[in-house]
Amino acid sequence: MIVVLLGAPGAGKGTQAKRMGSAMGVKHFSTGDLLRQAVESGTELGVRAAEYMESGTLVPDDIMLALAGELLDRKGPGVGVILDGFPRTLPQAKGLDQLLEDRGETIGLVILLDIEEDDAVERLSSRVSCPECGSVHNLATDLPMTTGLCDACGGTLVRRSDDIPEKIEHRFEQYQSETHPTIEYYRSQGRLDTVDAGRPIHEVQKAIEEILHRKSGPQVAG
Ligand code: AP5
Ligand code: MG
Repeated sequence: MIVVLLGAPGAGKGTQAKRMGSAMGVKHFSTGDLLRQAVESGTELGVRAAEYMESGTLVPDDIMLALAGELLDRKGPGVGVILDGFPRTLPQAKGLDQLLEDRGETIGLVILLDIEEDDAVERLSSRVSCPECGSVHNLATDLPMTTGLCDACGGTLVRRSDDIPEKIEHRFEQYQSETHPTIEYYRSQGRLDTVDAGRPIHEVQKAIEEILHRKSGPQVAG
């Protein structure tokens, strides 16, 4: 199944995508992580993306759609995937539908992780993440087993450079102006499931699992 995870900065997209990926046995792609890796490696994509990401501005749609096309080709036909942070503009949502139609595929589930801005900002201000593998932890709600080190790969946990107040504020402005119309696009077509993401991690995970169970049930039975 192809799953799209939508949500504000700090809503928990990466946290839940990782858990869903393990539970479903599918890969998850975070466009934010892929772009950060490209910036770090100094690839052509990274050089183009860096100027936008530095300020928390969305990377242009043509770049993102080209990246999405590559991801879909890389995963192979009929293989499930969780898309964390893509699409997040209306042209990206329409472009993704077209990319999938061209490949004879379709989105199985769109989940919005819904959270109050204040709660999300609080999470971002205590987030630490691993630049090696993209794992995230939180110094208030989700401590790593060893202080300062990633549970998954042992890498050194760091604060993200866009997790400072003025950049967080700009990322939320972008979310309001660009991603809200995307949410409405899916909602108006009856394709959106909304989860209250303001709850503890395991409760959000349980709510997502219930949706997955409900959606995949008929396929399993049939
Ligand atoms: P991206 O990396 O996707 O950033 P974002 O959307 O701002 O989202 P975050 O990764 O900050 O938050 P999250 O929802 O993943 O939360 P997390 O699980 O970490 O994108 C970065 C940039 O790349 C963009 O600004 C843009 O420039 C560019 N970009 C990416 N995709 C793009 C696209 N499609 N188009 C154009 N540009 C694009 O959780 C946050 C914290 O909270 C963690 O510490 C976690 O441990 C904790 N936490 C999680 N869930 C809970 C919970 N339920 N309770 C308590 N704590 C929790
Ligand atoms: Mg993330």
